[in-house]
Amino acid sequence: MRLDEWQETDEYFDLLAAGNTPEMTRFLGGPEPEAKLRERHVRYAGLAGAGAGRMFGIRAGVGDTAAIVDSVDDVLPLAGSVGYWEREWLGGTVWEAGWAVLPAFQGRGLAVAAVMEMQERAAAERRHRMLHAYPKVDHPASNGVCLKTGFTRLGPADFEYPPGHRIRCNDWCFALWDD
Ligand SMILES: CC(C)(COP(=O)(O)OP(=O)(O)OC[C@H]1O[C@@H](n2cnc3c(N)ncnc32)[C@H](O)[C@@H]1OP(=O)(O)O)[C@@H](O)C(=O)NCCC(=O)NCCS
Repeated sequence: MRLDEWQETDEYFDLLAAGNTPEMTRFLGGPEPEAKLRERHVRYAGLAGAGAGRMFGIRAGVGDTAAIVDSVDDVLPLAGSVGYWEREWLGGTVWEAGWAVLPAFQGRGLAVAAVMEMQERAAAERRHRMLHAYPKVDHPASNGVCLKTGFTRLGPADFEYPPGHRIRCNDWCFALWDD
């Protein structure tokens, strides 16, 4: 498993398109039209330069374990995405985290490994100390990822996402460094 910075290339757009299915977006408001997906792609690629977060592609071999592979020479397919961006939350700015792993790669600890690596990258920035995640309360896999990567559940929170649609989420938080 390796995290690579999001690139504005077809390979990364194809990853977004592969995840834009009813199954993958069941807890995220459903598939997006192509124009929205293009906007998302450009936004992800621009986050790091703007100092407003970072989005990564998760690379993993088919049948690979989640062990971290250091070599950047391996040509591994993109299996998912993980990253963080700024959000105003309870009067301050925090990082919000998000993640997705394509169905062919799910269920073998890839999301957990990728989120732990992402936490280290976010900590190294020393920009915002608190990393939050807001999976829907009825999303077992994503709440499972939070639990296994050291987040603390603060409680439920109501959101409007997509606009006009009220959803109930869990507010999970992770301190990137000791106070
Ligand atoms: C959430 C998601 C990223 C998990 O990816 P994954 O690589 O399969 O997750 P992992 O293999 O690292 O699993 C981590 C833990 O989550 C839990 N989990 C995973 N899938 C689960 C499921 N279908 N039901 C219940 N718990 C589940 C388990 O606790 C698992 O730990 P285990 O290894 O002890 O079983 C993946 O399901 C996904 O991309 N879903 C669609 C996109 C999405 O909803 N993203 C999150 C938005 S909040």
